[in-house]
Amino acid sequence: MRRGKASLPVAGRARQVAAGEPPGVGERPTSDPAHAGLSHPVAATLSRRDSGHGTLRIEPGAAFLRGFARSEVPLLIAEIARIAAAAPFRNMVTPGGFPMSVAMTNCGQFGWVTDRSGYRYLSTDLDGKPWPAMPTRFRNLAARAAAAAGFGGFAPDSCLINRYVAGARMSLHQDKDEADFAAPIVSVSLGLPATFLWGGAKRNDRPRRLRLESGDVVAWGGPARLNFHGVEPVASGDEACRYNLTFRKAK
Ligand code: SIN
Ligand code: FE2
Repeated sequence: MRRGKASLPVAGRARQVAAGEPPGVGERPTSDPAHAGLSHPVAATLSRRDSGHGTLRIEPGAAFLRGFARSEVPLLIAEIARIAAAAPFRNMVTPGGFPMSVAMTNCGQFGWVTDRSGYRYLSTDLDGKPWPAMPTRFRNLAARAAAAAGFGGFAPDSCLINRYVAGARMSLHQDKDEADFAAPIVSVSLGLPATFLWGGAKRNDRPRRLRLESGDVVAWGGPARLNFHGVEPVASGDEACRYNLTFRKAK
């Protein structure tokens, strides 16, 4: 892998994508028929919002905040390294028993986990240790980004940290393990670029492709809260990996 001057360290233990992984591994929770009735048109093109500042409305309830976290990238990555030292990245297994290509850890009161028992939020890591506290920098960034996207008062109690080495991907899924869907999701990209797949309310709505670079933020809620989304396999590049912070109100 090429390592440029600005290359990022991979925090925690380096793990490779599981060899011989069947297609579809790396998947997150799938469609829930209870939410299938939530439907709205997927806009054909991005339209610039009045608020400017590089904020683009993807569709009602979904915003792309280009470069919103750019000035903080090194400090955010330093926080990830601290968190991973206490709660190591793991390639958790799906309920079906397949290891995910994306390695994950969490911080905050609750963390998203998966194992043979299912997808869920826990107040501890799978080894029983409480998750590291959510850094103030994370909390503030999430609240400011949510507000810029039109969701005031966002107070996340959970931050899932995803680590994508080259080849890692996340299949289309909905974020629907949270207790209620009133709060938005705030998703921060760091390190290697990626192609984000932004789908609709239904699994088979054709997703749009958005290129996410380090420091970009996507936030969605309201009518877009249960939209399908995913990440195409990450290509190798000048950084060691891609990180993604996903802020949520879990409980
Ligand atoms: C996720 O949906 O949990 C991750 C999205 C991303 O990595 O951009
Ligand atoms: Fe997600």
